[in-house]
Amino acid sequence: MVSNTIQFLFSNKIYKIKNPDPNKTILNYIRNDLKLTGTKEGCAEGGCGACTIVLGELNKSTIIYKTINACISFLPTLNGKQLILIEDLVHENKPHMVQEAMVKFHGSQCGFCTPGFTMSLFSMKKNYKLINKEIIEEALSGNLCRCTGYRPIIDAAKSLNNKKDKDHFKKNQKRTIQLLKKIKDVDIEIEHQGRKFFAPKTIPNLKKILKKYPNAKILSGGTDLSLEVTKFRKNIKTIVSLNSINKLNFIKKNKNLIEIGATTSLFDFQNLIKKYFRDFYDVLKRYGSLQIRNVGTIAGNIATASPIGDTLPLLLSLDAKIVIQGINKKKVYSLNQFFISYRKTKLKKGEFINSIKIPLNKENIFKAYKISKRFDDDISSVCGSFSFLIKKNKIIKASVAYGGMSEIPKRAAMIEKNLINSEFSENTFNKAINFMDKDFSPLDDMRASRNYRLTVAKNLLFKAFYEIKDKKNIRIHS
Ligand SMILES: Cc1cc2nc3c(=O)[nH]c(=O)nc-3n(C[C@H](O)[C@H](O)[C@H](O)COP(=O)(O)OP(=O)(O)OC[C@H]3O[C@@H](n4cnc5c(N)ncnc54)[C@H](O)[C@@H]3O)c2cc1C
Ligand code: FES
Ligand code: FES
Repeated sequence: MVSNTIQFLFSNKIYKIKNPDPNKTILNYIRNDLKLTGTKEGCAEGGCGACTIVLGELNKSTIIYKTINACISFLPTLNGKQLILIEDLVHENKPHMVQEAMVKFHGSQCGFCTPGFTMSLFSMKKNYKLINKEIIEEALSGNLCRCTGYRPIIDAAKSLNNKKDKDHFKKNQKRTIQLLKKIKDVDIEIEHQGRKFFAPKTIPNLKKILKKYPNAKILSGGTDLSLEVTKFRKNIKTIVSLNSINKLNFIKKNKNLIEIGATTSLFDFQNLIKKYFRDFYDVLKRYGSLQIRNVGTIAGNIATASPIGDTLPLLLSLDAKIVIQGINKKKVYSLNQFFISYRKTKLKKGEFINSIKIPLNKENIFKAYKISKRFDDDISSVCGSFSFLIKKNKIIKASVAYGGMSEIPKRAAMIEKNLINSEFSENTFNKAINFMDKDFSPLDDMRASRNYRLTVAKNLLFKAFYEIKDKKNIRIHS
């Protein structure tokens, strides 16, 4: 079945919108159509958190709450979800416990950032009973405040620890689940003033759409694609969302391999990879913000082929493979062969990334570091990732990859050649780093100068060497 109407739950009612504008953001819908202006617009590019809202998603017989940036989310992606806004938190004229905490601990001055912070705290409280520093920092990683400062807000967050979740959302949960189940789970096909939006539920239907519209833009988390509209003022004529295809949202593992489906969120991936490659997890924790990782995907990161895409050097050094699905056949590429030139990949029209395969090798030692100006929500100046197999103090295998050093994320072929079959020693690494400027010719730009990038890249390789030598931070997967 196909429908041209999106349906979502808001304030205990199912809302229906026939043929909504696929280029309209959820933020513009909330502020301009619902006329609810508690949710603010700051940057319109996912960077400040002023527009943070919460989506409730049905997961079997429970609801998962996720913060998102409404400013970079397209309206049709609301289909099937519960929309929760700052205006919903007050119940029977009483503020919600997170609002009370913000007041009690003086978490607001000008107030512009406050609704966004409050929604982040609300989602945190719904997802965790026991709250610690790590959970608070992650929950607030996508919210900027320029007046209050973070201490009072963090104090407000801490005060929520161990408090019983007995708000009106909890009391109403059964009814919310019933209502969400009422929304029909069908393919969506929207047309609005010549702009089209498709959200098929199956891969065969996706293929049919891509065959008919080979120039359509594929949408996963939208954390990159949406900026074409919000920042570059472009008009995207045809969007095909992969997010309703359950078969693309999976994590499979066996003792040799992890395979991640294209629509698996970075947040879900981060929690899986922690067990296998701790440094991958550490880099992901600094990838954008929670709002970004709740929707963004590795497949989206790969498809952008951005020279500073954070997962790319990590996947390159882990020898990851990507499974590409065309209209008629599947292909598997080594990621190392996938990037052609600046933001260009081997992906052809009508093809999409189906999944990513990461080999597991217990003997390899994996290290990865992200260097950026800010800890949270900042893009890398340089990202270095290394995988070594060392036996009897000899380097048997070395995979060295960098982001931010070239027009594409790339392996350091000369450095690798100089490391492999050599002694695992300072002398070997000292010689190898001399090849850094043969492997890479980085650009000067506003993020970092060429010399800075070359120096940092060398230092990161040394950091890996010393950590391995001193057996520091070596966390081999279980
Ligand atoms: C505030 C903010 C912070 C960010 N921080 C970081 C960061 O720290 N590190 C970093 O690396 N990036 C960062 N990004 C960039 C962005 O999050 C990534 O590029 C992200 O991985 C894109 O994934 P997505 O699922 O949102 O892709 P989308 O925006 O949905 O798509 C991106 C591109 O990939 C294509 N595409 C998506 N999925 C597929 C598929 N399955 N098959 C084929 N093509 C596909 C789309 O057509 C589009 O061209 C940030 C972005 C924002 C807005
Ligand atoms: S307005 Fe800044 S993140 Fe949305
Ligand atoms: S209170 Fe003013 S920006 Fe946070």
